Amino acid sequence: MRRAARVLIACWYLIGATGCATFAVDSGAESSPFSHGVLAADHVIASRAGLEMLERGGNAVDAAVAASFCLAVVRPYSCGLGGGGFMVVHLAAEEPMPARNIAITYRETAPGGLHPEYYAQLGLPDASRIGPHAVGVPGTVAGLLYALENFGTLDRATVLRPAIRAAEKGFAIDADYVAAAREVLDDLAENPGWPDLIGRERFEWFHRRFLFNGEPKVGQVLHQPELGRTLRLLARDGEAAFYAGPLAHAIADACPAMTPGDLAHYEPRTSRPLTGAFRDRTIIAMPLPSSGGIALLQSLGLLERRRGDLDSTTSNSAGYVHLVVEAMKHAFADRAQWLGDDRYVDVPVATLLSDEYLSDLASRIDPQRTQPPDRYGNSVQLPDDDGTSHLSAVDQWGNAVACTETINLEFGSLTAIPEFGLLLNNEMDDFLTIPGQRNAFGLEQSERNQPEPGKWPLSSMSPTIVLGPDGRVEVVVGGSGGPRIISSSLQAMLSVLLFDASAQEAVSAPRFHHQWMPNVVQFEDSWVDGAVIEALGALGHEVGRREDVGVVQLIRRAGGGYSAASDPRKGGAPAGR
Ligand code: GLY
Repeated sequence: MRRAARVLIACWYLIGATGCATFAVDSGAESSPFSHGVLAADHVIASRAGLEMLERGGNAVDAAVAASFCLAVVRPYSCGLGGGGFMVVHLAAEEPMPARNIAITYRETAPGGLHPEYYAQLGLPDASRIGPHAVGVPGTVAGLLYALENFGTLDRATVLRPAIRAAEKGFAIDADYVAAAREVLDDLAENPGWPDLIGRERFEWFHRRFLFNGEPKVGQVLHQPELGRTLRLLARDGEAAFYAGPLAHAIADACPAMTPGDLAHYEPRTSRPLTGAFRDRTIIAMPLPSSGGIALLQSLGLLERRRGDLDSTTSNSAGYVHLVVEAMKHAFADRAQWLGDDRYVDVPVATLLSDEYLSDLASRIDPQRTQPPDRYGNSVQLPDDDGTSHLSAVDQWGNAVACTETINLEFGSLTAIPEFGLLLNNEMDDFLTIPGQRNAFGLEQSERNQPEPGKWPLSSMSPTIVLGPDGRVEVVVGGSGGPRIISSSLQAMLSVLLFDASAQEAVSAPRFHHQWMPNVVQFEDSWVDGAVIEALGALGHEVGRREDVGVVQLIRRAGGGYSAASDPRKGGAPAGR
């Protein structure tokens, strides 16, 4: 799906119209650091929900969970109870406990009826993207409540209160919401068969509720009483209210490949995050089934091994862009060939991140020339988002959370469960659904990422925490935008770690993207330095344009506290104290 122009957001950003007393940014100026904690989400209502928890004495996990439930209400086209996500948690040392890092996977799983040939046999165009065949078993409720129970300190009712308030009282939709809704309306106009694929009744409810009968306008108020009731049920009964009983049956009834048993058996996974080193820092990143952690650590590892070349560049110069692009091309080539759900397929993660392998890839980077696609990654033998929402949080004790959630494309599968106010994901399109075809993000994928019952589709979501040499949190980062999450998070992180950019500068700077295939460097429309684009062309790159490269929320240590920024591309704002 295309992303419409967001002129309004740019204007909104330039005038600094945040409406948030704790946030002050104008044209790149840095807000004063927050010494008692801050949360940066892509909607200010969600950031404030997190702040409300910090003010009640809650920790970063309480804040992140409250903000996430709130995002389910105020960014329904990006994430929600019908979707899934990933969370990286850093718990600072507290006597007698040492510091701990935890990765929580609550990605949607393939329902029991799915198999590698499912979509080919179905023979329905768009079925992996639109309508009930596209839906994976949602993980968000299980993941958030797991995080809260195990690492939070506040009770469910307190943490869910801001989301219930936003659902029941309503909120005014902003320019980003309207852009997303208009995009879906354009897609619907081009695809008259979609309402039947979705089911007329569900579609009509979705169209009335979320697309404002085809006429969404900034400032209209979105009320979600049914979702408010569902959130109240969660506050009262916890996870069982979602994964068993009438709600689970309603989801399973809507989705042909899913049974209530698929929901009853859903479990989030906790594991150790991946870790790597860059410039004396420790990078704590998401493991599989996110490709983001491996891709970030590979890219940073390659850049570290080309340190001499990198140190002679400046931010966003031609030499810098070329090196970062070459690193990303290797990482995305390996993504395409090797990565999948490691519970189902063998993935040589240790080899892909080993010194020997990264040194070999780094030695193949030519600072003077890009190379043909088959020279990247270990792909010589190859046979053949704009949904999503990221938030970053830190608290006064030095705990941190990086959390990225999604229902995949805007408004997910467009399939609603009206009686519970839910919109269901279309995460199954992140699998290789039809061999030989690229997914909605143009990604090439291998058979390792084919659907099977219970399997997680590969993701690009990259929630990441960086610890300084002193072991304290230095950066919390992540983004939305499908594969562009990896490139945007990488570039925002490099801006801080290499060029000491402020949080606002790091998220606002124009960006570029390369995902190995298609073999093109894409520069954001806001990239004005034509000489860099020309220089990249002279190095052999095919160059192109796209409207934006990801939406990043970043927190960095600064001035005795933390400064934070939400990406102007989506119009959020951080909140802290
Ligand atoms: N749905 C996009 C991703 O997980 O990468």
